[in-house]
Amino acid sequence: MNTAGAPYISLQDVVKTFPAPGGEVAVLKHIHLNIQPGEYISIVGKSGSGKSTLLNMITGIDHPTSGTVTVAGTQPHRLSESQLAAWRGVTIGIVFQFFQLLPMLSLLENVMLPMDFCNRYSPAEREGRARALLEQVGLGDLVDKLPGAVSGGQQQAAAIARALANDPPLIVADEPTGNLDERTAEGVLALFDELVARGKTVVIVTHDPALVKRTQRTILLSDGEIIHPLIARAFPHLPHPQLLQLTHLVRPHSLSRGESLSLPPYATGLLVLTQGKLALWKPARRGETLWKELHPSQALTAQEIAPHLPLRLQALEDCVWLEIPPEAWESWLAQSGARASFVSTEKQA
Ligand SMILES: Nc1ncnc2c1ncn2[C@@H]1O[C@H](COP(=O)(O)OP(=O)(O)OP(=O)(O)O)[C@@H](O)[C@H]1O
Ligand SMILES: [Mg+2]
Repeated sequence: MNTAGAPYISLQDVVKTFPAPGGEVAVLKHIHLNIQPGEYISIVGKSGSGKSTLLNMITGIDHPTSGTVTVAGTQPHRLSESQLAAWRGVTIGIVFQFFQLLPMLSLLENVMLPMDFCNRYSPAEREGRARALLEQVGLGDLVDKLPGAVSGGQQQAAAIARALANDPPLIVADEPTGNLDERTAEGVLALFDELVARGKTVVIVTHDPALVKRTQRTILLSDGEIIHPLIARAFPHLPHPQLLQLTHLVRPHSLSRGESLSLPPYATGLLVLTQGKLALWKPARRGETLWKELHPSQALTAQEIAPHLPLRLQALEDCVWLEIPPEAWESWLAQSGARASFVSTEKQA
């Protein structure tokens, strides 16, 4: 069972490798991820970045090469195939990237199948429930059609209805609006909102900005790793590979409320505030004057700071920030092709 306060989904140091012609290839690299019960999460990343593989770790469809996955108090990779199927049937509603409806069953039968399989709801209730779910995703008139006789978008909508059949606490969906027309997509987004409002945990892989905007948190995957969310927020226009490089370079720092640092001799390449409020004071004719107040997710680069030196950094509250040392920052700028001015304007956005 899920213990109060514990994450609902937890991936600890998860690595997934696949055999490839040149040897094993790591598709997920030391992933740490916690998702709380009731969270609405989007997972975003380029094709091949490992999004579906990550979902497969959560659903137990695939096993990690190393590391631990815990979902609702269970480690799916430790269950036998039959235990796994039974557990998954009542715990997770899965919307697959390529629907995976059974072609010789009608849409109605496809949606009834998970209820039959897990023996959920009385047999008399199942059909009415399946009809209502299909109605909800706009397929009320097509319940008796075979999947092959409806459009890709309609199959996707049916796959969503099927995922909800057992009223699972967790819904995991891979590109659920990718094939839907605008109106059906809007209906599906409203349905996800409603599920979240009912306390479900919803995790969705998507490229759809409208969906991303509605989720509470976005996980950015690049080449099998998670980009630091604050780095992504501070530089929304930097490409993912560069955000990942910055993620590798940052180190945490802290300063207690009331404490100060003088710049120089203290030096920083990049500073992204994660917590607290940081005041930057510069010398004035009499005493000093406030140059800037930094709030969480705002960043400062060495290039921005340079014209205003010397500065005094003062923690107005207990502050925590991510920092890249000056040498590492300079060499990143030089080899990444990112111009300091570009980086610095972007972060104002
Ligand atoms: N079973 C497998 N065997 C070998 N390689 C695999 C396997 N499954 C996935 N991969 C490789 O792992 C990488 C990540 O695949 P994954 O399907 O997770 O990407 P994705 O982010 O979901 O991409 P897309 O947006 O195209 O769906 C890809 O390079 C893919 O070729
Ligand atoms: Mg995928």
